[in-house]
Amino acid sequence: MNAQEAAKRKAAEAALAYVEPGEVLGVGTGSTVNHFIDLLVERKLAQDIPGAVSSSNATTQRLKKAGIRVLDLNQTGTLPLYVDGADEANAHLQLIKGGGGALTREKIIAAASRKFVCIVDESKLVGVLGRFPLPVEVIPMARSYIGRELTRLGGHPVLRDGFVTDNGNLILDVHHLDIVDPVRLENEINGLAGVVCVGLFARRPADVLIVGSSSGTRVIK
Ligand code: A5P
Repeated sequence: MNAQEAAKRKAAEAALAYVEPGEVLGVGTGSTVNHFIDLLVERKLAQDIPGAVSSSNATTQRLKKAGIRVLDLNQTGTLPLYVDGADEANAHLQLIKGGGGALTREKIIAAASRKFVCIVDESKLVGVLGRFPLPVEVIPMARSYIGRELTRLGGHPVLRDGFVTDNGNLILDVHHLDIVDPVRLENEINGLAGVVCVGLFARRPADVLIVGSSSGTRVIK
């Protein structure tokens, strides 16, 4: 395992402390969360939870393989805990997510959870969000229109080639954004007709950010 994977695993390991036996979990998508799922099994916590709400088809497969029941958010009510990774995080716990294309379901689960614990390695921490291209999920027929609007907002949108989301939509990755006011930009992009979801998690940031590194973990609240 390389140093970055080891740091992700450390962050994932620290998130286990938030898991309560008997409580349903929300589970995100990505390589850091995959460590978390593996650890739930290795530390024998998987058997103590009634099930999990999944943010993607990829996570659903992994949860099922781990022997964890996958539950429908419509049946669970508010979730006590959501654990997920991120592509970038700032000191206010605002995030860019969606590198894996699961942003819409991730945002729904984050909104429906009481506590959102975000797990990242230290390379994801930034002063200003936007170095990582901002994913925007769009209805296919709105692709060109939204591309023009994102350009008007100062970005350089690039269609994620050959990629279709779990919801049957497209992703525009917006480069060269300097996101000094994340809440405003999230609202502005959300307001464009045909946008399903923007991967800015600013209005609903994480509650706890666990940052893994070679020297251990740091918790930011
Ligand atoms: C998935 O759509 C993303 O939001 C992921 O949470 C994000 O890309 C983090 O992935 P890694 O843990 O693989 O870096």
